[in-house]
Amino acid sequence: MTEAYSLQDYCSDLRSIAAETSDEDEILRRVGPLAQRFVADRSWLEPKHYETDAEQGFGVHLLHEEPDHSLAVLVLSWLPGRGTPPHDHGTWAVVAGVEGAERNVRYNRIDDGSRADYAELEIKHEFNAHEGELVCMKTGGIHQVTNETDAITLSVHTYGKHVNHTNRSQFDLETNQRKSFIVRVE
Ligand SMILES: [Fe+2]
Repeated sequence: MTEAYSLQDYCSDLRSIAAETSDEDEILRRVGPLAQRFVADRSWLEPKHYETDAEQGFGVHLLHEEPDHSLAVLVLSWLPGRGTPPHDHGTWAVVAGVEGAERNVRYNRIDDGSRADYAELEIKHEFNAHEGELVCMKTGGIHQVTNETDAITLSVHTYGKHVNHTNRSQFDLETNQRKSFIVRVE
């Protein structure tokens, strides 16, 4: 049996960690196991979290953010065959799988960063993130997520700051163009 670990418990622990350290390696090391406890609990999960946005390819459901947009916890519901372009987050990110496997491609940026609207990426590694598994990224980490299964997949995403408030980027692998990446939140 899984020990109860509510949204309130999770947010309280996130606040403690953020108050104690700004070291991202430590934050990821401490938040990861808590995110796994949180997705195992499932008391927070509601039918509306499975609702998707057909235009965007995935639904974004806010569970929590602080008044200054820090410590955002969101549920993402991914349509079969859909996903994101390569993107960063402008903050640290901890993703924990809830249902189904999500294909992750991690990238390195290989240009010198001197041009604001230009970025060259190369694939670092690819893997499937399954239920209960983590994908942890520090600020600047770049990945692409795709649902290659036949059913809606769900994951919980915890960010140092809500990603619509970090001026983060999406990347076009064909044109090497870098532009802003804002998501529609339900
Ligand atoms: Fe992401």
